Amino acid sequence: MKSIVLANQKGGVGKSALATQLAHYAHSIGLRVLVIDLDHQRNTSRPLTSHSTVTTTSFSSADLLNGNAIAQGQEHRFVLVAGDDRLTGLEKQADNHNRFATNLRTFLSSRAGNFDLCVIDTNPNPDIRYASALISADYALAPVQLNQEAIEGIAGLLAHPRYGLSKIKAALNPKLHFLGILPNMVEPTPFQRRNMTLLTEKFGNRLLSDDRAGSPKYAFVPKRSAIAEAQAAGMFLPELKKTSARDACNELRPVLDTILYRMGLHLHEEANQ
Ligand SMILES: Nc1ncnc2c1ncn2[C@@H]1O[C@H](COP(=O)(O)OP(=O)(O)O)[C@@H](O)[C@H]1O
Ligand SMILES: [Mg+2]
Repeated sequence: MKSIVLANQKGGVGKSALATQLAHYAHSIGLRVLVIDLDHQRNTSRPLTSHSTVTTTSFSSADLLNGNAIAQGQEHRFVLVAGDDRLTGLEKQADNHNRFATNLRTFLSSRAGNFDLCVIDTNPNPDIRYASALISADYALAPVQLNQEAIEGIAGLLAHPRYGLSKIKAALNPKLHFLGILPNMVEPTPFQRRNMTLLTEKFGNRLLSDDRAGSPKYAFVPKRSAIAEAQAAGMFLPELKKTSARDACNELRPVLDTILYRMGLHLHEEANQ
């Protein structure tokens, strides 16, 4: 099992939407998928719980961090450990912080044989949930929006003295691999184009990229109302039967493929050969 954390200390950049659609997509191409929602806002839990393909465990992600996950759901191919309100109380329990991170690590290794992919969605504020996820996972991906403020926030994401990806990798999780920054909700405006140029100049080597022939060098996801609609309706994007959803799918699929490919989980091409 390979695990990926969607991380950015900003809210509203598309972490939950991309986590949800990545999980659905991976399931649709035959991978066994585990999703852990560490955000009490439950923006990944909500759309997934209502979906017929998903089995939700009886324990929440707060239970999991507290060491109260039970043996359950391993036989299913698409499993959600949902968030709940108790997640917000964990930060105050400083004495237990090490235990929370250990419990998440232990849980992931206990499920390693049952799933191919684990998608972890996080809350925007850097705290013990966010740190536990980055301490435990194999990969991290940072969706961003193309505005000045978000671009400035990237330096913090990478180099925060306590929660920066570089610090966590160096001190606590050497296997953590940063897949890159993924511009999301991209619009073809001069303002966004300028910010994309700025982003590539400043962080080009940190952008999610695809070295396969025929793929655009830097991945990005356009702003498409169908993506927000699919999230609101609790659906996998292709299930929205309208032309705008089909177009959005055709744009999103190569990006999700790139993510899985970069994680060594790309079964799609093999299946088509
Ligand atoms: N590419 C996109 N195009 C249009 N809407 C999007 C896109 N990505 C995310 N959204 C919507 O934007 C809002 C914020 O996204 P969300 O995934 O909840 O952000 P975060 O988890 O980072 O706080 C949601 O309503 C979501 O459905
Ligand atoms: Mg979210």
